Amino acid sequence: MRSCEIYLDNAATSFPKPEAVYDAVDDYQRHCGAAYSRGIRSEDHADTIVDECRQMLADLIGAPDASCVAMTFSATDGLNLLLRGLLRPGARVVTTTLEHNSVLRPLRQLQQLSDVHVTHVPFDPVTGMVSPDDFRAALRTGHVDLAAVSLVSNVTGIPQPIEELATAAHEAGAVVMADAAQAVGHCPVDVQRAGIDLLAASGHKGLLGPLGTGFLWAAPELHDRLIPVRCGGTGTHSESLDPPGQMPQLFESGNLNMPGIAGLKAALKWHVSEESRNLREAFRWRVRRLLDGLSRISGVTVLCSASAARSTGVISVTVRGYDSREAAEILYQSFGIRCRAGLHCAALAHDTLRTRECGGTLRLSPGLMTTDEDIDRALDAVNAVAAAGS
Ligand SMILES: Cc1ncc(COP(=O)(O)O)c(C=O)c1O
Repeated sequence: MRSCEIYLDNAATSFPKPEAVYDAVDDYQRHCGAAYSRGIRSEDHADTIVDECRQMLADLIGAPDASCVAMTFSATDGLNLLLRGLLRPGARVVTTTLEHNSVLRPLRQLQQLSDVHVTHVPFDPVTGMVSPDDFRAALRTGHVDLAAVSLVSNVTGIPQPIEELATAAHEAGAVVMADAAQAVGHCPVDVQRAGIDLLAASGHKGLLGPLGTGFLWAAPELHDRLIPVRCGGTGTHSESLDPPGQMPQLFESGNLNMPGIAGLKAALKWHVSEESRNLREAFRWRVRRLLDGLSRISGVTVLCSASAARSTGVISVTVRGYDSREAAEILYQSFGIRCRAGLHCAALAHDTLRTRECGGTLRLSPGLMTTDEDIDRALDAVNAVAAAGS
């Protein structure tokens, strides 16, 4: 990225990362290099890094037992492992039209291959939220095995009422799986309080870890029901041809992304630093300023503007007179602003929002490293583009 450019695509992956993250990856590559669970423990720095990172992730999501956290390569990886590990042929799933393809596509494939039945509950296009009453109604149509909900939409940035949705799902006897890709690092997530049974998230978005990192969590009472769909070496129980049945090895076959995990651990440590706290405070104000500024531009419509909650910084707009991809191209070519346009891997959300016809939405997602000047330049640029289109 050129130094004059402004990066407003943190919902895809955060950039830049804290210096401590780059240092930890570099240090691991140069001075450790060992694989996890495959060396002599007392000498193996790798095991300590993973154990500590696992514990930090468990603390982050309010999970009492760190061994229920498995390291993955992304949220997509974790969501696939959970969906394919849990659902049996003929299972019934209730989910929402807000979901990302990392939930929609595995479900679609399971629908085609294993006769899994999937119901998509639409959200309210004004508030951006799924109504617990609508969710309850969908759960009443027969036995439901799984309710799958993203905690925060990557299109609208709106958090979902997870506690109410989870209560409705549990009343119907369903397991609750949360896609926390856009939530962790931005808003508090407490699996016990929210009534979440399964969770998967990215390490490289709000947590500021390197790409290629993520994690999943599974409540202990579900471990017996989960099948490992990725099988291979775990460095343990090598005498058996069966994969280990206990967490976290259940989901950790094959070598882990150790440099990435070293970076993620450094990011989690940085997360509770004073520098991080100060940046988060400033971030909240900057997101508010961007949201207010965009709302005031003639020809720009902020999606789900009725909801003020934008703690993750994801803001989607449409610009009158433009296909969103065209607007993004001009913002990049003429103003050096890197943002994202299109369906954002969440096509069904655009049916509910009625934004498919204009090429989806233009999504601006500042991050902790975004400055006041970046916000001013972004607002000026969107203003200029909107004025030219009117
Ligand atoms: C809501 C949501 N779920 C899942 C994912 C997939 O995350 P990852 O890139 O870690 O696979 C994303 C990525 O943008 C997302 O926004």
